[in-house]
Amino acid sequence: MTATSSIHGMWSTRLAFILAASGSAVGLGNIWRFPYTAGEYGGGAFVLVYILCVVLIGVPIMMAEIMLGRRGRRSPINTMRALASAEGRAPAWQLLGWMGIVAGFLILSFYSVIAGWTMGYIFRAASGLFTEIDATGAGEMFSGLIGDAERLLAWHTIFMVMVVLVVARGVAGGLEKAVRILMPALFVLLVVMVGYGMQAGDFDTAVAYLFEPDFAEFQGKAGEAILSAMGQAFFSLSLGMGAIMIYGSYLKRDSSIAQNTMIIAGLDTLVALLAGLAIFPIVFAHGLAPDSGPGLIFQTLPIAFGDMPGGSFFGALFFVLLLFAAWTSAISLLEPLVAWLVENLSFSRVRASVLGGLTVWLLGIACLLSLNAWSEVKIFGKGFLDLFDFLTANILLPLGGVLIAIFAGWMLSRASSSDELQMDDGPAYRLWRLLIRYVAPIAVGIVLLNAVGVLGWIGLG
Ligand code: PHE
Repeated sequence: MTATSSIHGMWSTRLAFILAASGSAVGLGNIWRFPYTAGEYGGGAFVLVYILCVVLIGVPIMMAEIMLGRRGRRSPINTMRALASAEGRAPAWQLLGWMGIVAGFLILSFYSVIAGWTMGYIFRAASGLFTEIDATGAGEMFSGLIGDAERLLAWHTIFMVMVVLVVARGVAGGLEKAVRILMPALFVLLVVMVGYGMQAGDFDTAVAYLFEPDFAEFQGKAGEAILSAMGQAFFSLSLGMGAIMIYGSYLKRDSSIAQNTMIIAGLDTLVALLAGLAIFPIVFAHGLAPDSGPGLIFQTLPIAFGDMPGGSFFGALFFVLLLFAAWTSAISLLEPLVAWLVENLSFSRVRASVLGGLTVWLLGIACLLSLNAWSEVKIFGKGFLDLFDFLTANILLPLGGVLIAIFAGWMLSRASSSDELQMDDGPAYRLWRLLIRYVAPIAVGIVLLNAVGVLGWIGLG
């Protein structure tokens, strides 16, 4: 049960793993989704609940995912099957892997569409279209893009091709090379943007907005706000669907899971907060609305870029950054399925990547049409894109997370988990075990059950 390597390859160094896993974690979730979701729920209180979720639920579950992956050394489905059998548990635990594949499919299908918006904006910025644009102009630019199904399809197609190309080259060849260059570049560019916000934006208001919790903002929608903060934590940390599990399966045994997790979760949170600090000063300086939804960064940033010297350059650079971040996340969404196709159906990596990519591409078409031609088609009051986003981030990922916590905390023997985590029975291991056995499953369980109640009420009403 303690295979030393994966048939799919291994990360060459510990740093390669950290870069890849943070590449998976840091993405549209931090820069596009975090600011607009925080804005929807009034800022500070949401940010506080979000951080609590990262620390108390995200960190222990991330450790569990890496641990299970490294112990199983296979795709999440086969890892769960193998571990369940080794520990004398029901084979049905492999369903966890299947659920993750479904979640990954759904996420990637809309993720690719949003990554497409990003690509469209690189060219809009570079060709000077942001120059002296006002709120109305920026709003029109955004609705013009999302109303244009053909353009969205073109970008979505290009992005999926980019994803398939990297995944097809495999762990060391494709994924690792890509993240080595992209991650550090991304970080530097984000710091530059925060610098601009400090200098030209309303930085003090933004800091107060993000870091002074005002729970009055939750009035009447506390359940929904907490569900969203928790869902955002799962989404942003790439937890609950097997992405981090499969990355863990390529990790060598001589590396501390606890330390790696702290670094990855810390980086991810830092990038989300930096994104907030880059975006909200601009939002407030220009009297824009923090709660303008998924279009937030696309409707607000062009105004700022249009107003700053060198804005065409900085604007293009920012959206390039976002595209890179999205790319390194997207490859991890496809990897669990590709590994499974290679293991079970003896597909070549190339064939598996193309097949997976094609299926996601088709599903993505439903997402992009829901923004225009199919805008009338609603399920539970949501179009496909919003529905997939809500269903995955707020329901499927937390559900996957609870199951991972239960498996790691209750099904896996104490000996196995302390062996794989390479932790003695000291305070750190005990704290992890307390969080994974009780805190995480109970907290996520309560929030989910509450949401199902709320959902039933809305859905039937
Ligand atoms: N964490 C990624 C982001 O923030 C999205 C993601 C979710 C990636 C789940 C993999 C698995 O953009």
